[in-house]
Amino acid sequence: MSRTAKFLSARISPGLPVREGVLRRGRRFAYWGVAALAICWLLWETGSGDDRVYHAGSISAAHQFIANDCARCHQAAWQPVKRLAMLDNDATSTPDAACIACHQGTPHHADIAVTQLNCSHCHREHHGQEALAAINDRFCTSCHANLQDHATKPVEFVAEIASFAEHPEFALFRDDHPETPTADSRHGVHRVAVRNETSNTPPWQDRTNLRFNHKAHMQPADPRGLPTPALHSAGVEVTLAGFERLDCESCHQRDGAGAYFKPIAFEQQCRRCHPLEYDATLQIGDALPHRDPSLVRDVLRSRLADRYLELQGEDAPKESPASDANAIPGAPRPRALREGELAWVNERLAVAEHVVFGREAKGGCRLCHLLEESSTGFTVAPTDVPDRWQAHARFNHQRHRLLDCTACHTETLASATSADILLPGIATCRACHGAESGKSGAASDRCVECHDYHDHALDSLNGGLGLDLLPVETRRRGGAERGEEKGGAGK
Ligand code: HEC
Ligand code: HEC
Ligand code: HEC
Ligand code: HEC
Ligand code: HEC
Ligand code: HEC
Ligand code: HEC
Ligand code: HEC
Ligand code: HEC
Ligand code: HEC
Repeated sequence: MSRTAKFLSARISPGLPVREGVLRRGRRFAYWGVAALAICWLLWETGSGDDRVYHAGSISAAHQFIANDCARCHQAAWQPVKRLAMLDNDATSTPDAACIACHQGTPHHADIAVTQLNCSHCHREHHGQEALAAINDRFCTSCHANLQDHATKPVEFVAEIASFAEHPEFALFRDDHPETPTADSRHGVHRVAVRNETSNTPPWQDRTNLRFNHKAHMQPADPRGLPTPALHSAGVEVTLAGFERLDCESCHQRDGAGAYFKPIAFEQQCRRCHPLEYDATLQIGDALPHRDPSLVRDVLRSRLADRYLELQGEDAPKESPASDANAIPGAPRPRALREGELAWVNERLAVAEHVVFGREAKGGCRLCHLLEESSTGFTVAPTDVPDRWQAHARFNHQRHRLLDCTACHTETLASATSADILLPGIATCRACHGAESGKSGAASDRCVECHDYHDHALDSLNGGLGLDLLPVETRRRGGAERGEEKGGAGK
């Protein structure tokens, strides 16, 4: 008979319990013996006041300065034993109060999260120099896989996110939020966008009141670029200075850390081509200031008064007889206009207001603004250009600088109205984040790559210990620096 597997297995009776050999039993005794000895030794060491034997691994880089001052963190006795004996996973020798003595550790949705986890639950100490805040997804998904079970109020955010693979499309591209937010709506989407009135694709529109056309500025019909008028001094017609081709960063300038962009500013980004020049039509000299309509109106009025006096020639008296408390001493003062002269000014002011603010005016403020008219005059609707679009996530342009702007903002060159939302959806991110490892450019898909846990809006400097901790708020805006500090937490 050959010793086939079938032949061999037939010799073992399946019903018989495997007998424990003497050797095996001895080994078990040895295990337990050593364990018992170790516990006795630990207890003895504790009694003698030397707790360094508990050292579980080196302390994180950030806490090296208290590495030998165990009691700064370990303030409750017997907790590991309690954890083992009572199977109480929340028992910890490092109560939150120990951490809060130095840190704010502001909570995460305290208003609605039922139980906040212990600090030490997420921030694993004694794991060497590893960044303390680069935490594993399970500390998030323990709640976020079934959020409603962990909240005392109905949750407003997508409640089942067990991994990045199951991550929902970003809210700006979903249609599950109501058109009119309720008073206690917490989702930031309502602060930057309004529901599309005409259709559900796309579901949201940019809520800004500033008119703008990316297409007209980025893809001008003239191959030389956009015509730029020369700024002129009083009395000279607007002339053409030349042509300019714009790129994204002509208007969008990076903020200090390069994570986001600075707000658009008229003076820096628009004035050179849209100079608010009216001298050709109104003969009011230099360009108008870019200010509140009531101020612009005051300027128009005083320029027209000057213009009137100019037209009257040299013999018009320049000094007003009544003394004016606000006038600069010694400076020549315009005289007060008399009634007939006022009528001249007011008549022209009415025309000027039409040219600058009026509904029928082509190039006035309404080129870019929504103006409201009331009995007291015109007001500019707040432009409301958002600073941040996705308040519930973090982003960093600097880290993606190798990509073309339009790789993510794909619709920009075709967009003719500021109502368009030009941000990328989640598919764009998935091309790199969470892509199969090995694929070039693969980036992390951990929750903490893109999200904070602590509500940094509530942070304030805790100066109790005289530690020179940077206010967290400044570090938050400087996402780039913080990433470096953590030694590449994103990996
Ligand atoms: C910066 C705070 C901090 C300092 C300083 C610190 N530890 Fe810890 N230690 C922790 C945290 C956090 C845990 C994990 C506690 C938990 O999981 O509940 C821990 C766990 C331990 C454990 C495992 C048992 C337990 O309590 O869970 C031992 C043993 C330990 N530390 C010993 C030491 C010793 C010895 C020192 C001083 C040389 C020290 N630690 C200093 C934060 C600290
Ligand atoms: C004696 C004061 C002190 C205590 C106690 C303390 N920390 Fe810290 N912690 C610091 C300092 C200082 C830093 C470094 C801050 C910096 O780099 O800006 C730091 C940094 C951190 C960081 C950021 C580390 C990183 O990689 O970016 C975390 C997270 C943290 N501590 C959590 C804790 C937790 C959890 C506890 C309680 C177990 C604790 N700390 C106890 C002083 C303390
Ligand atoms: C559910 C996990 C979790 C818990 C619980 C938790 N943290 Fe954090 N903590 C994080 C994450 C994620 C970050 C990094 C992102 C951020 O700043 O929110 C962080 C960052 C920090 C930082 C660094 C802040 C910075 O801006 O560099 C400190 C300090 C800190 N936590 C302290 C605490 C303290 C103190 C507690 C307990 C009161 C605590 N944490 C509880 C997850 C947690
Ligand atoms: C103790 C349970 C719990 C844990 C742990 C937890 N969350 Fe949350 N999270 C909540 C609750 C509750 C909400 C609020 C839902 C609401 O307001 O409708 C929320 C909301 C959020 C939101 C959307 C709103 C916002 O604040 O931006 C994000 C993003 C988020 N959590 C990320 C995280 C990350 C990342 C972690 C892990 C570091 C984490 N959460 C851990 C309970 C938790
Ligand atoms: C590559 C970046 C990235 C990663 C990784 C990521 N998220 Fe997000 N997440 C976002 C962005 C961007 C938003 C949109 C935020 C907004 O609308 O303000 C978002 C939205 C959310 C929201 C709010 C959803 C809503 O109702 O609109 C929650 C909750 C959330 N993420 C949790 C998580 C959790 C949990 C993980 C880890 C399993 C995770 N995210 C991983 C980028 C990311
Ligand atoms: C002539 C100035 C100018 C140029 C050039 C320009 N932008 Fe803009 N951009 C604006 C203004 C003004 C706004 C705010 C009004 C709005 O929302 O359209 C804006 C808004 C945006 C927004 C956020 C608004 C939204 O609805 O998503 C993104 C993203 C953006 N621009 C990307 C780009 C990219 C990418 C380029 C280059 C291809 C570019 N812009 C070129 C002026 C400019
Ligand atoms: C390099 C010169 C240049 C700059 C800089 C510039 N524009 Fe323009 N803009 C033009 C020209 C030329 C037109 C006329 C385009 C056309 O007729 O198609 C125009 C047209 C417009 C229009 C009307 C678009 C339409 O749909 O008809 C608006 C609104 C506008 N610009 C706003 C702005 C704002 C806001 C800024 C600053 C963020 C700005 N522009 C910066 C040259 C410029
Ligand atoms: C070429 C486009 C353009 C024209 C024309 C224009 N503005 Fe603006 N205006 C802007 C931009 C861009 C902003 C936002 C950034 C800033 O404040 O510089 C703005 C902001 C404002 C604000 C502040 C609004 C707020 O939300 O705080 C006022 C007030 C204003 N403009 C008044 C005027 C008046 C009055 C005129 C006409 C005399 C005018 N603008 C013409 C582009 C323009
Ligand atoms: C990897 C994708 C990606 C690339 C590449 C990218 N952006 Fe963005 N951009 C985003 C995301 C995501 C946001 C939303 C961030 C927020 O405000 O929450 C954003 C927001 C913006 C905003 C709105 C204002 C702000 O700071 O949030 C502007 C303007 C903008 N991007 C312009 C640009 C320009 C210009 C470039 C090229 C230099 C560029 N982006 C490259 C993804 C990208
Ligand atoms: C072409 C690949 C690519 C695409 C597309 C991409 N990312 Fe990234 N992203 C990266 C890489 C690589 C890193 C790591 C950079 C580093 O650690 O220096 C990163 C880092 C990040 C970070 C961490 C920044 C920090 O604070 O350190 C965030 C947040 C992020 N990406 C969000 C996004 C979002 C949201 C999108 C989609 C709109 C996106 N990314 C699309 C490659 C990409």
